[in-house]
Amino acid sequence: MNAQPELLNVSHKLPPASYYDPAWLDKERQQLFGNSWLFGGLETDVPDVGSYKTVKVGLSELVVVRDQEGALRAFHNTCRHRGAQLVQGSGKCKTLVCPYHKWGYGLDGQLRGVAQKNQYSDLNVAELGLHAASVDTWMGLIFVHADDNPQTSLADWLGGLKNELGIFQVDKLQELTRHTFTFPANWKLYIENHVDWLHLWYVHPETLGAFKHDQGERTQYGRHWSSFEQVKDEFRDTESGSDPLKAISHLEHQDPRYLGVGAHFIFPNLPVFTGRGFFATAELIPETPDKTTMDVRIYGVPGGDVDTFLAIFNEITKGEDVAIIESIQKNVRSPRYGVGPITHTLEKAISDFHDNYLALVD
Ligand code: FES
Ligand SMILES: [Fe+2]
Repeated sequence: MNAQPELLNVSHKLPPASYYDPAWLDKERQQLFGNSWLFGGLETDVPDVGSYKTVKVGLSELVVVRDQEGALRAFHNTCRHRGAQLVQGSGKCKTLVCPYHKWGYGLDGQLRGVAQKNQYSDLNVAELGLHAASVDTWMGLIFVHADDNPQTSLADWLGGLKNELGIFQVDKLQELTRHTFTFPANWKLYIENHVDWLHLWYVHPETLGAFKHDQGERTQYGRHWSSFEQVKDEFRDTESGSDPLKAISHLEHQDPRYLGVGAHFIFPNLPVFTGRGFFATAELIPETPDKTTMDVRIYGVPGGDVDTFLAIFNEITKGEDVAIIESIQKNVRSPRYGVGPITHTLEKAISDFHDNYLALVD
């Protein structure tokens, strides 16, 4: 990336406990994930009236459902009777019926039916609808928020990144493949590696050797950013300088930088990768402080060699990146673990991530 000559105050700001302490993860779930717009999949995951899917947001369990008018709604997946979950996973229904004692809710969240209603002496049906959460979409991608009236709209949350990555028009692409795996490291270590420009030369000498790391460009949009690198001239139109997917035609007449490889970040937990043939989301879901699930979904145009592309993608992310962060995770409880000086250019994004994180987590 372009060198920044001035010396900035760049440092690693998170304590070791933030990578292994279960109480810290609880705090993150409450303060960070509970106060952010989070990726919740694709609109096509809930295609029809009555289609639903569950999404975990911080400490909250949500259900996203398509209502009678075809609009998306989000509710807390928590029965107002005694708190059981109404639905699991994904599916399609006419009403959301709790399996425990058969309270039934409409697709608008209102309580519609109560089994053995005359056994309750005090039941105000109108006040016992599901607790609402928020859902909105951006080019076919669903985002959810645990609050029914968040302080920031999704449009404001994404800010300028909306236009920058909106070029990819994911709603005109198809999901080509999906790959989910779990690895033994804290979710933040993956983010820190994802935004670390310094490791590109050393962890990916072969797999990303065709790209101009020293001329990459990163653009900050509030908490999020885009970054692009172009193919070295000698690798243009060679196998390692392109990807085996079909080129996306609506990128053809855009700025050529969109045809390079892109590694972007939507705060707090969504790395995004792009290229001339793909847009990929790599959602990071913390299971425990030292166990994270990554849900990779790749969108593009059918007709390319998806298997080969996924093999390369996995080699870079799972094979190379995850291997190195697993080794850090093994050290975080050591009394000798600590982070020394970091570069004020190539690793600055780590420091920026920490600032945005610490603005929400205290
Ligand atoms: S907990 Fe849902 S009906 Fe009783
Ligand atoms: Fe990497």
